[in-house]
Amino acid sequence: MRDCLTGESMSEKIKSLIDRLGTEHRLSKEEWVTVFSEWDDEDRAYAAEKARALSLAQFGNKIFIRGIVEFSNICKNDCLYCGIRRSNTNAERYRLTEEEILSCCEEGYEYGFRTFVLQSGEDYGAYPPERMAGIVRSIKQAHPDCAVTLSLGELEYDALKLLKEAGADRYLLRHETADREHYGKLHPAEMSFDHRMQCLRWLKELGYQTGAGIMVGSPYQTNECLAEDMVFLAEFDPQMIGIGPFLPHKDTPFKDMRKGSYELTLFLLSLCRIMLPRVLLPATTALGTIRPDGREQGVLAGANVIMPNLSPTAVRKKYMLYDGKICTEDRSAECRDCIKARMKRIGYEVAVTRGDYV
Ligand code: 5AD
Ligand code: FES
Repeated sequence: MRDCLTGESMSEKIKSLIDRLGTEHRLSKEEWVTVFSEWDDEDRAYAAEKARALSLAQFGNKIFIRGIVEFSNICKNDCLYCGIRRSNTNAERYRLTEEEILSCCEEGYEYGFRTFVLQSGEDYGAYPPERMAGIVRSIKQAHPDCAVTLSLGELEYDALKLLKEAGADRYLLRHETADREHYGKLHPAEMSFDHRMQCLRWLKELGYQTGAGIMVGSPYQTNECLAEDMVFLAEFDPQMIGIGPFLPHKDTPFKDMRKGSYELTLFLLSLCRIMLPRVLLPATTALGTIRPDGREQGVLAGANVIMPNLSPTAVRKKYMLYDGKICTEDRSAECRDCIKARMKRIGYEVAVTRGDYV
């Protein structure tokens, strides 16, 4: 034991750091390193209980749902972890037309979705900002009571501005890691840590509800990296945080890397909820992939959002960021019913509302 502490008093130390996170909403990098080096399942249960109480106080037993439309798996990037990286010649590529995207939203609206997430690879050749702006306008016109979230990757300021003016409400852009060196191990040299961080600042400046986030257990991630992530998140104060376990994809350079820890993912969800009590925090598809009841357990650990797939079943298998992704055989109605039932079983209800950050 370090510092001559017994196991028991070490655990008291982690609990008192978790308590302080609840009152001061930040810890120092050194304190985070201690948390990530020393936590055990009892600390995780302690954090989960606190986090769950906070999310019940903030949102009641209501879970916000977002329908994801994965409209293109073509990507100019080559992130080493990602199944749709441009070097993966085994990926069967597809693009949806504006009509197809709108019809996914139409179907989603009937199922009670009031947020649509348009997600794709960085496919700016086929979907330049002007075209995307047109798609956003069409969705807003058809469904003025709905929020539109974009998840298109990195863009320049003017493009982000155009899309905001077209009516986009939110933008998801995981920072992936707040540690520059770690960023370099996950991405090819042509990708820039600074540009990604700059994009995140632009998004906030432009008035988007902005989502950052990481993969838990991505290759070469250390406790120091996670500590940097928490310090960054406290400072950046995003409205949304996307956190899921890293899962290897067979056609990437990381195919033989270990998957991330399920337990650590749940612990991080709880810590994020305690640090930023109002944050919109999804129990991600990757969490539901690593464990059959992962999304339920995510909700019980402090998550308040679930993002079921609204993509046409015919393309779902092609949007494979990692192996084993769930819901690729299902139709949107099945995912909707499945989520409703899963939430009901743990005492929660799906809300028919935009679910904005307040
Ligand atoms: N495992 C888990 N998550 C992944 N993502 C991409 N590839 C993987 C993978 N192999 C996540 C990234 C990205 C988001 C859209 O999906 O964090 O930002
Ligand atoms: Fe898609 Fe359960 S959410 S089948």
